[in-house]
Amino acid sequence: MIKRIVFATGNAGKMKEIRAILADLGLEVLSMKDVGVSADIEEDGSTYEENALIKSRAVAAGLRKDGRLEGTVVMADDSGLEIDFLNREPGVYSARYMGEDTSYRIKNANLIERLEGVEDERRGARFVCAIAAVLPDGHELTSRGVIEGRIGYEEKGENGFGYDPIFYVPEFGRTTAELTEAEKNRVSHRGHALRLMKEQLKEFTEGKNSPRSGEAGERIS
Ligand code: IMP
Repeated sequence: MIKRIVFATGNAGKMKEIRAILADLGLEVLSMKDVGVSADIEEDGSTYEENALIKSRAVAAGLRKDGRLEGTVVMADDSGLEIDFLNREPGVYSARYMGEDTSYRIKNANLIERLEGVEDERRGARFVCAIAAVLPDGHELTSRGVIEGRIGYEEKGENGFGYDPIFYVPEFGRTTAELTEAEKNRVSHRGHALRLMKEQLKEFTEGKNSPRSGEAGERIS
């Protein structure tokens, strides 16, 4: 029986989005900080999915060690910004781009500068997010979501975090930093990936309670 979700992130901005999207599951949604787990995790995978799995496995192992994994799904995400003109940089290295401690004012200004003189059609970019979940019985699930957009010509908007002020969404005519939280959650990479994960989790848990339980365990994408 699943009672709670522990999300392996220390990012308050992400946690806010995650809580809003997972609210309707009716489960307690906690951050690593809420459960007092800290993990210095080396995200050395070559894909978003690998990194998300590395994080969720590490936190699950920590909780198991303390005997606190019962009824807990450990989720983690890994995300990044891919800019076509820069051969999909910064990609899986988005958080580490120009150094982990460099401000996003500086990172965003740098990316705009690298696209100087590049016309609209070649400013294509996307945010990608993978979510991984480790279930109490050790099963693992992953999902992926994407939002397509363009890199703007200047920073705009105060909402969101990270690269949001330079990520322009044509459908809205605004950057993701100019969207309300609800608007962003509806269209964002993390929103899509989390909703897919929610569906997988529901199918998995419902499948386990049905006579065809054996097959559900194979539904790992
Ligand atoms: P992660 O925390 O390892 O997944 O790294 C994600 C990186 O991509 C961070 O640098 C974030 O700032 C950036 N990123 C991911 N999602 C978003 C978003 O929704 N808005 C802005 N930046 C994002």
